[in-house]
Amino acid sequence: MGTLRCGVSGLGRGRTFIERLNGIEGCEVVAVCDPDEGKVEGCEGLNGYLDFETMLAEAALDLVAVIGPGPTHAPQSLLALDHGVHVLSETPCVYSLDEASAIVQAVRRSGCRYMLSEDYIFMGWVQRWRELVESGELGEIVAAQAEYTHDCRGIFLVGPDGRYLPWSERGRPDVTPSWRASHLPPLSYCSHTLGPLLHLLGDRCQSVTAFDAGSRTYPEAGTIDYASAVLKTEAGRVITLTNGFGVAHPFIFFAGLIGTRGSVRCVSYNFGDAQMKLYLDRDGGGWQDLTTAWFDRSDGRHWLSVLLEEFVESIRNDSTPPIDVYRSMDYTLPGICAHLSAARGGERLEVPDLRGP
Ligand SMILES: NC(=O)c1ccc[n+]([C@@H]2O[C@H](COP(=O)([O-])OP(=O)(O)OC[C@H]3O[C@@H](n4cnc5c(N)ncnc54)[C@H](O)[C@@H]3O)[C@@H](O)[C@H]2O)c1
Repeated sequence: MGTLRCGVSGLGRGRTFIERLNGIEGCEVVAVCDPDEGKVEGCEGLNGYLDFETMLAEAALDLVAVIGPGPTHAPQSLLALDHGVHVLSETPCVYSLDEASAIVQAVRRSGCRYMLSEDYIFMGWVQRWRELVESGELGEIVAAQAEYTHDCRGIFLVGPDGRYLPWSERGRPDVTPSWRASHLPPLSYCSHTLGPLLHLLGDRCQSVTAFDAGSRTYPEAGTIDYASAVLKTEAGRVITLTNGFGVAHPFIFFAGLIGTRGSVRCVSYNFGDAQMKLYLDRDGGGWQDLTTAWFDRSDGRHWLSVLLEEFVESIRNDSTPPIDVYRSMDYTLPGICAHLSAARGGERLEVPDLRGP
């Protein structure tokens, strides 16, 4: 196979993907797409498009990274798969069970590679916890927990020029809610928390019940401020997840595994200040502090580059991507079902497994 011709849709976070894809031998970003003309013009030397379908029709892509607003991910992925283009989709990769089924069908039909770009799974702490789980030192893992709460009010308001406005501008007659304010039920963005946990456990969620705290921060946009879910897995474990984007609470990421012989926890405040603690029956004496080296990958590489490289390898080798379409849905659908459960007052819902015929 010659050079892989890559496209990137969405030039916010997508700009990182241009740089990192170009860093992979045999990959070249040849086209970008964003309805914001200024951003497209800023990508010198690349074919720029304001419209995704035109990029697909004209740029002869092998691979596209779909990195625009959440609600664009599934429709653009479907279009690309139907054009025979391999797809890497940012999270959340779907917003409904119908979108999930349509993507699974399109992957089967096209024979293309599809992967959720769930980068947390490639982070150092997940690598280290995997070694810990595989060592058996924690015994059997019976439960897992995670929280991702991130004050997104600073990216809830869009001004007349399409740019974000600070939250203090709320109430101006010319602002509109951003896609995050109006189209991001917190539990739909569950793959950063649930993905690593399921990856570590080799498990999938079977059923869920969830509640949300309603909409007090930005009710006119319908923003759901905060939500929590309890999930039961195939192996009989309990997972609890909490997400909130519309609250006065700076970024926190927290995760934990609870075992029959030991437990491990990590917490990161403000994307940086991180702590990790381990308890082992064997050692006794309560929680031990682990060094920050537990957050680093053992190969010293950036996790997103590893994710991209492994996806590209799966295309080159015609092999299963590290997060294939079924695993992508395992990491996403529990959050979609959790949102439905909360909307129905906490009704217990089954999480479909799309591996069937
Ligand atoms: N994995 C992570 O850690 C991580 C971090 C940040 C964001 N994200 C995800 O990445 C995606 C992009 O986030 P962001 O922060 O860049 O968002 P953003 O709102 O800042 O930027 C989105 C970009 O997409 C463009 N866009 C709008 N409609 C489009 C369309 N139809 N086609 C192509 N581009 C379109 C916008 O003009 C803008 O340039 C989101 O889904 C977000 O949830 C993931």
